[in-house]
Amino acid sequence: MKLYKLPGPLLLNVLFALFSSIQAGPANSKLFREYIGAEDKGVTFSDVPINSNVEFHFILSFAIDYTSSSHPSPTNGNFRVYWDTKNLNHSHVSSIKAQHSNVKVAMSLGGDTINGQHVFFSPTSINSWVRNAIQSITEIARLYNLDGIDIDYEHFKTDPNTFAECIGRLLFYLKNNQVVSFTSIAPYADDSVQPHYLALWKKYGHLIDYVNFQFYAYEKGTTISQFMKYFEAQSLNYNEGKVLVSFGTDGSGGLSPQNGFFEACRKLKSQGKLHGIFIWSADDSKKDGFRYEKQSQNFLAYTK
Ligand SMILES: *[C@@H]1O[C@H](CO)[C@@H](O)[C@H](O)[C@H]1NC(C)=O
Repeated sequence: MKLYKLPGPLLLNVLFALFSSIQAGPANSKLFREYIGAEDKGVTFSDVPINSNVEFHFILSFAIDYTSSSHPSPTNGNFRVYWDTKNLNHSHVSSIKAQHSNVKVAMSLGGDTINGQHVFFSPTSINSWVRNAIQSITEIARLYNLDGIDIDYEHFKTDPNTFAECIGRLLFYLKNNQVVSFTSIAPYADDSVQPHYLALWKKYGHLIDYVNFQFYAYEKGTTISQFMKYFEAQSLNYNEGKVLVSFGTDGSGGLSPQNGFFEACRKLKSQGKLHGIFIWSADDSKKDGFRYEKQSQNFLAYTK
């Protein structure tokens, strides 16, 4: 190694690329994840094209700790399934996993709304919320034979530390007892949201495998260079984490495939920083025949 002969900035680049590629690990550069089931559009697992050369995660959306009445209210950690169970029941989970050895299935907790009102994270106390959540989530995870859990609360009635403690203790239990094998969080750039996830990351980041950062929550018309800056900033926030890139097929914001999403992915890949791609959501992609799911997986599987 004659790295000392390289000019300073180049040396740094080389070291940084080396470091990032070690951190990324080869398995994670082919991770494709997709949220499914939140919008009652009748989408099924088998509707979605699955490339056998990627690692594929479906993320059932959502389990929520709210009552199911017409005026839903918080239940302090007693989760119920709110995804489209008619089309996504536990037989469907078993069958898609039996058909595709590269498919794993997770569920996401929280989400934006229930019955048109915001879903709040509003535990009564840390201990009681964690106790109820452990029980209800273990039950759902076993019934549906799930592999992973995703945290997607977007509205909060607690301080960041309470959120961090509740979710951190829950993830600790679920992983330690092999209820699930992987975990993720789904933050986005918002002053009322990020402090909660950053507090969680600071204390319990070692329990979190992926950061499904909602890059589609940035403004519409985001350019490639803006996107690259956002990615850098969030990679710094979630230091040493696997920050996945993302876009929405629901007309939300961020960097769209039409505006260069895959060009940005190419850049990240060449820098050893592409930890995977996720899409919100299968429900929205159905009408276009899942063209971007195909493109994303092709990109992950075959682009050098
Ligand atoms: C799941 O749904 C299918 C219909 O798509 C049905 O035949 C099957 O009985 C359901 N399984 C369970 C466990 O509800």
